[in-house]
Amino acid sequence: MANIVRIEEIAQHVGQEVTIRGWLYAKTGKGRLQFLRVRDGTGIIQVVAFKKEMPPEVFELVTSLTQESSIVVTGTVRADERAPGYPGGYEMGLTDLRVVQLAHEYPITPKDHGVEFLMDYRHLWLRSSRQWAILRIRATIIKAIRDWLDDNGFLLVDTPLLTPAACEGTTTLFETDYFGSPAFLSQSGQLYNEATIGAFGKTYCFGPAFRAEKSKTRRHVMELWMVEPEAAYVELDECMEIEEQLLTYVVQTVLTDRRAELEIIERDVPKLEAVVSPFPRISYDEAVEMINDLGKDVDVSIEWGEDFGSPQETLLSEQFDKPVFVHHYPTAVKAFYMAQEPDRPEVCRSVDLLAPEGYGEIIGGGERSGDPEFLERQIDHHELPKDAYRWYLELRQYGGVPHSGFGLGIERCVTWICQLPHIREAIAFPRMLGRIYP
Ligand code: 4AD
Ligand code: MG
Repeated sequence: MANIVRIEEIAQHVGQEVTIRGWLYAKTGKGRLQFLRVRDGTGIIQVVAFKKEMPPEVFELVTSLTQESSIVVTGTVRADERAPGYPGGYEMGLTDLRVVQLAHEYPITPKDHGVEFLMDYRHLWLRSSRQWAILRIRATIIKAIRDWLDDNGFLLVDTPLLTPAACEGTTTLFETDYFGSPAFLSQSGQLYNEATIGAFGKTYCFGPAFRAEKSKTRRHVMELWMVEPEAAYVELDECMEIEEQLLTYVVQTVLTDRRAELEIIERDVPKLEAVVSPFPRISYDEAVEMINDLGKDVDVSIEWGEDFGSPQETLLSEQFDKPVFVHHYPTAVKAFYMAQEPDRPEVCRSVDLLAPEGYGEIIGGGERSGDPEFLERQIDHHELPKDAYRWYLELRQYGGVPHSGFGLGIERCVTWICQLPHIREAIAFPRMLGRIYP
């Protein structure tokens, strides 16, 4: 066996005999010349098997290979700009082959399968180049988020997933049994972040969040990954600045580091290139007017005071070629902790960021209330169990400061950056209404 290499770095091995350990993605050709497309997790390379270049029993093995068999191939790397693959432009002339396992008849073939079928085989579907590209882009998005926050003074502090109370309303809670008492899977780490900023100034948590959303839409999953930065002495405007700088960095990093993957999924790249701070900012009032002007005929018009649903968000976000901030929603439609606007208490210092191209909300956040009496009334009004929030109210008694934060949903962000028709492809194993398998 020659030097084992990864397809990702194949360019460094032109002219050498190397070994690649992977799987057979596809096979074409006939007679004495066979073309194998071999993938190893880091890329796909064309492997050319020419009968006369190997012992007869090895060529025999080549012809017997089935789709997704695990194989170890050895051969010489050549540069050939016509060769397909990722990265393209290189191929291997096969000299030896070892079959690790001859795959059974593979359920996912090049023909079109329905989405439900593919979801049932999600454990295998992940191997297809499109899913592979999406999840590699997802990993880069996450890395870019963490890099930016780490480099800009935010400290990672992990928050609990088993919690005694709600953060985002009681209707989407997953209840569990905590030694005889009810406990809930966390909807958000925000309330705990509001405590950790008192110790560290700027923090973030990054983990799963759970929403028992009884809705079957292309934007909802039950288990999502959320990054939630929070910062002391930061008010609403600065919160928006942090969001736009973070997101600009994320998108630009994907554009430089995941070019091939964007090509695989046929992403409209110029639309992403336009995502550079600053982003437009409109108030909820302006947004309602805009929706009612644009949406007269399509029945998405709403009255002041109502929350936006997907149709309104889609319509709004189609009007901009960058993400757009919508700020100052009605206090009544937002979570209990939002700071009221002092001169206009019917609206709050909340802000949502809507992604362009009709994707809608990817970030929710804003400035938190520092007023313990107002918060107590809100807790009553939202019928939340007061005892569970005692510590949260105490934060307002011991050095309270203006502070803001936001939550960025990774799956929503991936769905938009990858231009996916549905959120289910944005995470390896989505949890959706009616699906927890595989
Ligand atoms: O707007 P949300 O509910 O805000 C919060 O949870 C705040 N506590 C965050 C904060 O200020 N620290 O959720 C934040 C984001 C949404 O904008 C969306 O991207 C994502 O989380 N999200 C979901 N994504 C997919 N499926 C769901 N069911 C989601 N619920 C929220
Ligand atoms: Mg929201």
